[in-house]
Amino acid sequence: MSFTIVERAPLRLTRSLLFVPGVRPQLFEKAAQGPADALCLDIEDSVAPADKPQARANIIQALKTVDFGAKSLSVRINGLDTPWAYRDVVDIMEQAGERLDLIMIPKVGVAADVYAIDMLVSQIEMATGRKKKLKLEVIIESVLGLQNADAIAGASKRMDALHFGAADFAASAGMRTTNIGGPNPDYVVLTDKTASGQRDTHWSDMWHYATARMVAAARAAGIRPVDGPFGDYSDAEGYNAQARRSAVMGCEGKWAIHPSQVALANSIFTPPAEEVARAREILAAMAEGQAAGMGAVALHGRLIDLASIRQAEVIVRMDEMIKAGKA
Ligand code: COA
Ligand code: MG
Repeated sequence: MSFTIVERAPLRLTRSLLFVPGVRPQLFEKAAQGPADALCLDIEDSVAPADKPQARANIIQALKTVDFGAKSLSVRINGLDTPWAYRDVVDIMEQAGERLDLIMIPKVGVAADVYAIDMLVSQIEMATGRKKKLKLEVIIESVLGLQNADAIAGASKRMDALHFGAADFAASAGMRTTNIGGPNPDYVVLTDKTASGQRDTHWSDMWHYATARMVAAARAAGIRPVDGPFGDYSDAEGYNAQARRSAVMGCEGKWAIHPSQVALANSIFTPPAEEVARAREILAAMAEGQAAGMGAVALHGRLIDLASIRQAEVIVRMDEMIKAGKA
């Protein structure tokens, strides 16, 4: 291990992050009662310019009145290059009380974008005497944001998560996409001919590099990486495939842009029972070893390393939080 120890942000469940447009307040209550770990009330791209003030007012009202239980609660503000972002932060933080957990900043390009919102949030916290420190999460959804992902992830002590947004990223990179967050039939590898002359086409994951880059930037800063949207919400199989690959790559959850995607995400990002059992075994063996005064401990003929112990602690804690219905 490096002499630089990465401190991990406290665990927070975000297997599923359901988006709710700020202009549909009738959905807030439904979302609050549903099974999503986390909700994001949106004032950005699901809200038309003329409706921004109404969306903001709806969200303030909901934050004061709706019982969101133990869910993580975020508001997606508008981008820093719009005339709305400052008022999104000021009005919501001044008027909506303490329930809000996070502000999501879209289309972040450089670390100073985070710094600017941190400064604003800090001033409002001091002025209002807010006790709960608001966290920030950021969408990496432009080539500039991806190139600066490391600095962005470490830009503020408030940083809690990086998200990868496929649709805006594709537009920014000039990529050809057919399905938000899904594969493209032109992004393939054609195998060499077999003896009988047969060639196969293997679909590849066009989002792999950007997702892996975002995961590394987030983890190196000790914060959580979360995968963004899968546009075709009628395609549960497609969603599952993309979510599973994100889980394999290290993401802690995935967006749901329709309630039907929430259960899929919850199921895929829940640590499998065998993994939890193995983690408990590792911790038990470690505790026994320590009690017996042993330096190194083995389990099933293999040495338990420090990384496995850390990982096991996270998995067990996550399992406890899921069972307790905490977010
Ligand atoms: N949150 C909570 N409930 C939702 C919901 C949401 N985001 N979207 C739909 N529902 C509810 C509907 O009210 C409906 O409830 P009912 O069965 O009690 O009538 C049920 O889920 C099924 O909804 P459906 O009719 O299939 O969807 P819709 O046509 O009303 O809305 C979308 C479809 C995509 C417009 C809507 O899901 C949505 O706005 N999603 C979020 C989009 C967003 O914020 N995007 C920005 C991030 S990329
Ligand atoms: Mg976007």
